Amino acid sequence: MSRLVVVSNRVAVPGEQRAGGLAVGLQAALEERGGVWFGWSGKSVRDESGALHEQRDGDIQFVTMDLNKRDVDGYYNGFANRTLWPLLHFRLDLVDYDRGTRETYHRVNALFADKLAPLLREDDIVWIHDYHLIPLGALLRERGIGCRIGFFLHVPMPSADLLQAMPDHLRLLSSLYAYDLVGFQTQRDTDRFQTYLRLFGGGRVLPDGRLQAPDGRHFRAATFPIGIDTARIAAQAKAAANKSAVKDLRASLRDRQLAIGVDRLDYSKGLPERFQGFERYLDRHPDQHGSLTYLQIAPVSRGDVTEYRQLRTQLEQIAGHINGGHAAPDWTPLRYVNQNFSHATLTGFYRAAAVGLVTPLRDGMNLVAKEYVASQDPDNPGVLVLSLLAGAADELKQALLVNPHDLDGVADAIATASTMSLKRRQERWHAMMEHLHRFDINHWRRSFLGTLESA
Ligand code: F6P
Repeated sequence: MSRLVVVSNRVAVPGEQRAGGLAVGLQAALEERGGVWFGWSGKSVRDESGALHEQRDGDIQFVTMDLNKRDVDGYYNGFANRTLWPLLHFRLDLVDYDRGTRETYHRVNALFADKLAPLLREDDIVWIHDYHLIPLGALLRERGIGCRIGFFLHVPMPSADLLQAMPDHLRLLSSLYAYDLVGFQTQRDTDRFQTYLRLFGGGRVLPDGRLQAPDGRHFRAATFPIGIDTARIAAQAKAAANKSAVKDLRASLRDRQLAIGVDRLDYSKGLPERFQGFERYLDRHPDQHGSLTYLQIAPVSRGDVTEYRQLRTQLEQIAGHINGGHAAPDWTPLRYVNQNFSHATLTGFYRAAAVGLVTPLRDGMNLVAKEYVASQDPDNPGVLVLSLLAGAADELKQALLVNPHDLDGVADAIATASTMSLKRRQERWHAMMEHLHRFDINHWRRSFLGTLESA
């Protein structure tokens, strides 16, 4: 079996627990094959970018690279999070078209390639992740790397017309042609990429489904919906009932039901709309007044980026407005918390919640939706209210699917979820859980790597 080299912007180095499902899945793949996990150290240093740090854990070597403040600003805060993130989430209104950050992004990707290339062996299999590192495969090819290289995009691939609006779009997107396999979350993402390739990218889709770049090179694009570590999360959520934070939350509710949302504080997550949908629920369903408390956990994310800071202020205002208008002396309808919790505690919170609210305006997949389902008590499962515009909606068809822009629809779905009979809740939950067991994180990485190896 070839050695695996994983490359991602963030690296889950040992000791620094980022216990997300992706980290667990990639770690398992690396343990199976032995290999290297390469990426940014997460540090913004004073000196020149490029210093490497190495750590070993069994057969896995972790190599991270420091970037200086100027490069973090241009590459991560700038082009990745102020240009690509909004563009890939269909938010042309928020895209910053700055040439300077675009050049820094390409320069930092070239630095990744310079540092990574000497570590690679001819029979390695390289798997590059996400929008931070789109050009890396092509830059490795320029440095003579001939081994199999795959890329997976965790976020949506927007329509060709939106991509066309980005200056110099072909330079970035045609760099995807250097991969052997490009993976997307949903079939629609794959379709939209193929449309771009045909309309603006100078390539074509061959009758056997392979793609052809303008220079004649063949490669593949395919769909690999990311899963979660379903069995582990179910066990973790059950055990978390004994955690004091979970007990305290349950006790604080008294006899009220809990609705929960957990999202990074990001405009793609539709939090203002969700708050307003909850307010609409309070207005439209006065009979349910006081019976349900909504807890929104929203850890601050990318706080150096202006749009994220503005969102924080906006949410504080809306939350104050809702509670001002609806709270009673002994009841706060909306609890809005920026604090972060351990992954295990969150699964305990999910299990305590009769309603899970996952209503992004656009999302590649959304793993919170899957984790909420996997955390439920089989004897008394809660109901997931899920945005049609999240990748997860393609799989979790037994959720209550809503359009996050339709506030009345969100309001009514909350009311329906909180009053659904046990029988209907169990039927829906079983169907979703069966899917999540079958298509878990291990299935995802095995199918991607299997396809890449046979490419
Ligand atoms: O795909 C989006 C993503 O990169 C996720 O993989 C990750 O959970 C999240 O964004 C974290 O963002 P950041 O690394 O910018 O904190």
